[in-house]
Amino acid sequence: MGISIIGCGHKMPKFVATNKHLEEIVDTSNEWIIKRTGIKQRRLITDETLTELATQSSKDAIDIAQIDKQDIGLVIAATFTSDTSTPALASNVQKELGIERAIPMDLSAGCTGFIYALATAKSLMESLDIETALVIGADYISKYLDWEDRKTCVLFGDGSGAVVLKRGEQKGIGSIYLNGKPDVEEVLVINDKQATHPWRDAKHDDKRIHKLAMKGAEVYEFACGAIVETINKLKEMSGSQIKKIIPHQANGRIIRYASIKSKIPLDNFYINIQKYANTSAATLPIAIDEAWKEGWLKKGDQIALVGFGAGLTWGGMTIEWNLPNFV
Ligand code: UT7
Repeated sequence: MGISIIGCGHKMPKFVATNKHLEEIVDTSNEWIIKRTGIKQRRLITDETLTELATQSSKDAIDIAQIDKQDIGLVIAATFTSDTSTPALASNVQKELGIERAIPMDLSAGCTGFIYALATAKSLMESLDIETALVIGADYISKYLDWEDRKTCVLFGDGSGAVVLKRGEQKGIGSIYLNGKPDVEEVLVINDKQATHPWRDAKHDDKRIHKLAMKGAEVYEFACGAIVETINKLKEMSGSQIKKIIPHQANGRIIRYASIKSKIPLDNFYINIQKYANTSAATLPIAIDEAWKEGWLKKGDQIALVGFGAGLTWGGMTIEWNLPNFV
């Protein structure tokens, strides 16, 4: 018995913000952004909601899976940017999809969120005897960006992806490696401390409240270590079976570094950062869906998903890809 991905989908916002758009608002250049990150454009939410994107990507995943949505017993959304602080994004999607009974919850683990969500879904499916689960990765990170800070606003985008998991005969998800350590230096933080009642002293509030603050070079160093550590652990745990890697898309240079250090050719890493930038927890399910629909991901491939991000968190998992070839 195993747990496999039997359907996937993704939905991006309509609005495309190119590097030229960014040149208009901060002191940056198309050349700098491409050279230092590999990003050419990103999608940003304008008149959509994150719930709409997450619902549409889930509908597409359910269609591919050819299941009755009422069979879904668990909905986990990896996100930290739900349209409503409560209910959870997973509950909003459950409502929009009209799933009468399921366990909905959000999971916040930064850009590693989707890996954590898949691992959590697998454990709950096994312990609570759930046959089918919907796992979403969705983030609306642009609402937390400081559009005057060129060091961060050029790096991120919005989007959503989803997969359907099912228990069955095929192996599907294999080895799982999760890890985390305290962000002592506060290298990647969105501060939410604020006065919430009349007696609280506002002088303790952070001036950069609600804005993403990142120490780029420190995060870069952490990310390079985390991605290589995760690939090496997964190789060790799976007996070096990994053929292709779908990594978190934070910077093309981090992926190139991982390719060199792990001695896995760059062509075996899926890369779409040029189109979407870093979409946080949405990155991996978007990449999975595109990699399959473009024909890069083929039936029988032994793949590894690898993520890293705020927390600090990192981790990955191996998956035997069981869906028939899309093209
Ligand atoms: O998903 C969460 C994980 N996030 C990450 O993994 C991100 C990790 N960090 C990075 O990818 C890179 O550190 C960045 C892309 C954020 C920055 O690249 P870098 O090569 O480390 O540049 P830097 O921060 O060392 O800055 C180099 C120069 C600085 O100018 P000075 O001080 O040398 O004059 C920056 O002010 O580049 C400048 N700079 C920019 N210039 C034009 C920084 N951002 C920009 C910009 N446009 N957007």
